[in-house]
Amino acid sequence: MCGIVAYTGKNAASRIILEGLKRLEYRGYDSAGLSIWNNNSLKTIKKTGRVDTLDREVKRTQVDGHLGIGHTRWATHGAVTENNAHPHVSSDGKFAIVHNGVIENYEQIKHFLEEKGYTFHSDTDTEALVNLIAYHYQKEPENNSSNGNRFFNSVRKSLNHVQGTYGIAVICSDHPEDLIGARHGSPLILGLGDNEHILASDVGALAMHAQNVVYLNDSEVVHITRNSFNIATITDESVEAIVQRVDWDIEESELGDYKHFMEKEIFEQPKALENAMRGRFSDDESTAKFGGLNITPQELRQVDRILFCGCGTAWHACLVAEYLIERFARIPVEVEYASEFRYRNAPLDKNTLVFVISQSGETIDTLAALRESKRKGFQTLAINNVVGSTIAREADGGIYQHAGPEIGVASTKAFTSQVMLCAMMALYLGRLRDMSFNDGVKFVKALKEAPKQVETVLKQSSHLQAIAKKYAKYEDFLFLGRQSMFPIALEGALKLKEISYIHAEGYPAAEMKHGPIALISPDCPSLFLAPQEEVFQKTLSNIQEVKARKGPIIAVTSEGSDFPRDLADDLIEIPSAHPAIQPILASIPVQLLSYYIAVERGCDVDKPRNLAKSVTVE
Ligand code: M6R
Repeated sequence: MCGIVAYTGKNAASRIILEGLKRLEYRGYDSAGLSIWNNNSLKTIKKTGRVDTLDREVKRTQVDGHLGIGHTRWATHGAVTENNAHPHVSSDGKFAIVHNGVIENYEQIKHFLEEKGYTFHSDTDTEALVNLIAYHYQKEPENNSSNGNRFFNSVRKSLNHVQGTYGIAVICSDHPEDLIGARHGSPLILGLGDNEHILASDVGALAMHAQNVVYLNDSEVVHITRNSFNIATITDESVEAIVQRVDWDIEESELGDYKHFMEKEIFEQPKALENAMRGRFSDDESTAKFGGLNITPQELRQVDRILFCGCGTAWHACLVAEYLIERFARIPVEVEYASEFRYRNAPLDKNTLVFVISQSGETIDTLAALRESKRKGFQTLAINNVVGSTIAREADGGIYQHAGPEIGVASTKAFTSQVMLCAMMALYLGRLRDMSFNDGVKFVKALKEAPKQVETVLKQSSHLQAIAKKYAKYEDFLFLGRQSMFPIALEGALKLKEISYIHAEGYPAAEMKHGPIALISPDCPSLFLAPQEEVFQKTLSNIQEVKARKGPIIAVTSEGSDFPRDLADDLIEIPSAHPAIQPILASIPVQLLSYYIAVERGCDVDKPRNLAKSVTVE
């Protein structure tokens, strides 16, 4: 959460920072601010609300220069006020800092500094750090000043006293040519331009200015001028930078003719699914193949159990993986919330493979679960969308989704692409064990048909829009489904609540009668996911139970199914498909329904209240 951008170079810093902040707004949009070295002094502008408001203020005040830092905030410590907005300035006025993360020991630092006469004006943890830097700067020998070393060392030394997470960028009025960045637990990337350098929380915010980047690692500090950069650890060991080419198509992150990124991303799913599959089948062997697993088929044969970890929507993809891998590969799978697993100290069998799923590859809880598994010596794999993300770099092996940038806070195409990769993994593991060649052939054929089938569901968007209009007034919803439809029910409920603020719950359809059935009334619609599969008749019975209690019913079923037409108030049909594809096809109507309901209610679909796309704090 929170996005940071910093720039030094030949161009106008404020334009580049504002442009970057707009691309980082999905990380938080409570307030935004920047500090620019302008006419021989540091000028700081902060505004609550969106980056556009800051942009207008920057234009009005005409602040500009060639060095600066900027921030878009998702509030952790302190309310959403201009005072708490970043950048924060040290009490001597020399330093300005932007920070993504949480300084856990900020109260001790603050107390220490207050006793030394430093003053504080915000409720944030960040202000403690900027003043700690000012404190260390005072203690550094002045003869280090000319080349910026005094500034660099004061930041570096301060970070040795910090507990918690940070991605930071700092500027100092004594050093108008220098910019210092550092990371620990929060992402930070250095873009190498022509006579300019840019730091940002993700590649999307710098890709239009830099094709070559350096991904900073934890506990690294970088000292940047417009022509040079130098990286060291916070304990002053030198670090050799690894320069990598950026893999980012800027056009893909434009809205184009769509009203919202969520809408665009829903409709991009056929392409995202194609990209997930491209080059990953061996027709001769009727199986899937993955280039980056770094684990041999022989080693995979030894795996007795797979643990999947993720958060939010990615956790739902893990649940689908459980159904598919257990069903088709007959390997026991466990699914854990990453945030629970990291502290649970769960006993794991020695032949367990740990799989994490994360769109961003930066979710702090998922990263912590990965690190904890690695520390215990387990082989780790990741399914991840953002190339070069921390999770992608730290997992022993993995599979990139290639779904393209997902900007809408509500995850859509990343989810179905994760499910597709889990289905391919089920196929691959199944074919290493008991799945026959012929079943493999059918499986591969079914997966390849998925993008076309998704297209046919997307063609029903006006039908879903009409259903959405009818149901937008309700304040409670149930999403119900059995077996692999249960995770899709959870995902449908999450989509609806996060973007339209309607209370929604997902349950296994049969669990309803153990409690949630008390909610059923004409004011609480239920959406049933009921494709024709093994438990179809059982789901129909659950639907009857709701109908008997006068609950409005929306049902998703497969074309040509035996679904009694008068059982549901509204019916949506998806193509009849292989069971591995059903979760993908069933996801599309719940995404469209949530989207259109949120639009109908006038909600800010891409930036729902209180949320941020990439959750980099605990
Ligand atoms: O980037 P990740 O996949 O690790 O993100 C995990 C969750 O924060 C994310 O899926 C979240 O639940 C979305 N807002 C759901 O739409």
